[in-house]
Amino acid sequence: MNLQNISNPLSICGLMLVLLSLSGPAMAQDGAAVQARVRAEDCTKCHEAIVLTLQLRGKAHQPLCMECHQGHPPADMEVVPSCGRCHRDEAHFGLPGCISCHTDPHQPLEISFTRDLTAPCLTCHTLQDEQLRANPSVHSRLACSACHTYHRQIQPCQNCHRPHSDTMDAGSCSGCHQAHMPLVVSYGENVVSEDCGSCHQAVYQTLAATWSKHRTVPCVRCHAGRHGMIPDCRDCHGVPHPPEIWEKFKECRDCHAAAHDLWATEASKNKFAK
Ligand code: HEC
Ligand code: HEC
Ligand code: HEC
Ligand code: HEC
Ligand code: HEC
Ligand code: HEC
Ligand code: HEC
Ligand code: HEC
Ligand code: HEC
Ligand code: HEC
Ligand code: HEC
Ligand code: HEC
Repeated sequence: MNLQNISNPLSICGLMLVLLSLSGPAMAQDGAAVQARVRAEDCTKCHEAIVLTLQLRGKAHQPLCMECHQGHPPADMEVVPSCGRCHRDEAHFGLPGCISCHTDPHQPLEISFTRDLTAPCLTCHTLQDEQLRANPSVHSRLACSACHTYHRQIQPCQNCHRPHSDTMDAGSCSGCHQAHMPLVVSYGENVVSEDCGSCHQAVYQTLAATWSKHRTVPCVRCHAGRHGMIPDCRDCHGVPHPPEIWEKFKECRDCHAAAHDLWATEASKNKFAK
């Protein structure tokens, strides 16, 4: 604190008044008596910026001015409270260096992550850590604050990665990936076949060109839920065709050679010839 922070020249008089009142016998004897004379409103005369900050962003600290600063220099020199005076008995309150994250007690929820941080986050968030550990990937080796550079920040994947193809929508990543387990590729029914086609171009083109009705079936309806899953034809079709043919044939693929192009082979035109 220096005198440049004192905005109004008249406030020098105010300072003298405050200092007089605070250093008077009332302070030594009875803090309550001082508070009766020096109210939180008075502070604004000399500490305008801090009072304003507290009013706008002080959150739960807003009404606590006089409870935190019980006294004033020069009568009292130890007027900066420790956080532990009021915050105790939770894992989070055992962390060292409160002020390194809560950089300003007058706006306690403006939080800065200036170091590599992981352990402190785990005093409140455990699920993400469990996911990162149970599903090892390069992400598991990064600090939480590598991706979350301030609290509650969500970075889009494309800040660090490129989409798989030019046709892929940059925001579509979460359709298949979760940030804390990125190698576990799972998806719902809304992922478009074009996105699968980013990597499986041949299959995508074959399916788009076939005249079989599978053309209209989205990839994710057959390969449901998780990447690499292969469906059984019977899941959707049961066991079709007259029972006799099953004496000669065992598998659907004996005639319908390829799921992506059902009528591509001679066998598939075979009309159950004996
Ligand atoms: C008349 C002007 C004036 C008023 C009114 C005033 N202060 Fe101050 N305050 C100062 C000055 C000047 C300093 C710097 C003093 C120093 O460093 O020795 C200061 C320093 C402080 C400090 C820092 C102490 C430290 O150890 O760094 C705190 C905390 C403080 N004031 C709180 C308050 C509160 C709370 C009020 C209202 C109840 C208040 N002040 C009212 C002028 C004022
Ligand atoms: C929750 C407790 C708390 C409340 C409420 C609070 N302060 Fe503070 N204040 C602190 C702490 C802790 C510091 C020391 C900050 C640091 O070390 O960076 C501080 C520092 C200061 C300082 C000196 C450093 C600076 O930034 O200039 C002043 C002046 C001050 N407070 C004034 C006030 C005034 C005026 C109010 C009320 C209108 C107020 N404070 C409310 C905890 C509080
Ligand atoms: C005079 C008592 C007191 C002191 C000293 C104090 N706090 Fe608080 N603080 C409170 C109270 C009361 C609340 C609201 C209830 C709660 O969350 O425990 C609060 C709430 C908070 C909140 C949440 C704010 C919100 O609106 O939800 C943060 C963050 C916080 N304090 C950080 C700190 C830090 C960091 C320090 C030390 C620089 C500190 N406090 C010192 C009393 C204090
Ligand atoms: C690594 C950074 C970090 C450190 C160090 C840290 N905090 Fe926090 N603190 C946070 C974050 C992030 C939140 C969550 C804020 C939110 O809910 O938006 C938080 C929330 C809080 C809250 C409000 C929620 C609650 O649990 O009541 C209080 C009070 C608090 N901190 C006090 C402290 C105190 C006291 C210390 C030192 C003993 C401390 N913090 C150290 C990052 C930190
Ligand atoms: C004191 C407890 C506390 C600490 C410590 C804490 N957080 Fe949080 N965090 C919260 C709370 C509370 C929320 C809000 C949860 C909600 O809305 O469901 C939150 C939300 C988040 C969100 C989600 C934002 C969203 O839009 O869903 C992210 C990301 C986050 N925190 C990251 C971190 C990181 C990284 C750290 C460590 C550097 C950390 N947090 C430390 C309490 C904390
Ligand atoms: C802050 C940067 C950052 C963000 C944001 C980010 N990543 Fe990563 N990711 C990396 C780094 C660094 C690597 C390792 C080098 C590489 O493969 O590019 C990586 C690797 C990966 C890997 C391969 C992992 C392995 O072990 O081989 C996948 C998959 C991945 N990221 C997916 C995502 C997805 C999906 C998102 C969004 C939810 C995302 N990433 C967000 C930085 C980031
Ligand atoms: C590679 C970047 C990256 C790393 C490392 C990372 N996160 Fe995240 N986090 C994200 C992204 C991106 C999201 C948005 C949700 C998504 O895409 O899955 C997110 C979401 C969150 C959320 C919101 C709730 C949720 O689970 O979706 C919290 C809380 C969170 N992260 C905390 C953490 C913590 C704690 C750590 C460290 C143990 C961590 N994150 C490590 C990128 C990362
Ligand atoms: C349709 C599902 C799908 C979507 C959408 C998707 N991915 Fe992937 N991604 C995958 C699959 C599957 C793999 C694993 C390929 C393998 O096994 O080699 C992968 C692998 C990755 C990798 C690891 C390295 C690499 O390139 O092979 C990164 C990084 C990645 N994805 C980032 C992203 C980002 C960023 C987005 C959004 C723009 C995204 N993904 C969207 C399915 C998808
Ligand atoms: C990032 C590129 C990428 C994307 C996007 C992608 N795949 Fe793959 N896929 C691969 C790679 C590489 C393989 C072969 C290696 C493996 O099995 O993981 C593969 C293998 C497969 C397999 C065969 C597994 C086996 O056992 O033979 C199926 C089925 C599959 N993918 C379906 C899909 C579907 C459906 C989508 C869209 C939801 C999709 N893929 C999106 C890269 C991708
Ligand atoms: C996810 C469900 C699903 C799976 C798995 C599936 N199909 Fe289909 N199939 C369909 C749907 C939907 C149609 C179109 C029905 C319609 O439009 O009448 C269809 C149509 C067909 C047709 C008629 C094609 C035409 O062009 O007339 C044949 C033959 C067929 N499927 C064979 C198979 C075979 C063989 C497999 C395994 C390789 C298989 N299906 C796997 C859903 C599925
Ligand atoms: C009607 C169901 C169905 C649809 C739609 C479908 N597949 Fe398949 N796919 C299968 C079946 C069944 C297999 C197992 C091999 C076979 O029977 O031909 C398979 C095999 C695969 C394989 C591994 C072997 C190969 O042929 O490369 C990949 C990769 C694959 N599908 C990707 C895709 C993609 C990408 C799409 C969308 C463009 C898609 N599939 C649409 C049913 C389907
Ligand atoms: C002996 C060769 C052969 C075998 C084996 C075979 N199919 Fe067929 N399938 C055909 C032929 C040929 C047609 C066209 C019939 C027509 O047009 O009348 C057909 C038509 C279909 C149709 C569309 C017509 C309808 O009945 O709705 C479906 C669906 C079908 N097959 C599914 C399957 C499934 C599933 C399997 C394995 C369980 C299978 N087929 C095994 C030759 C075969």
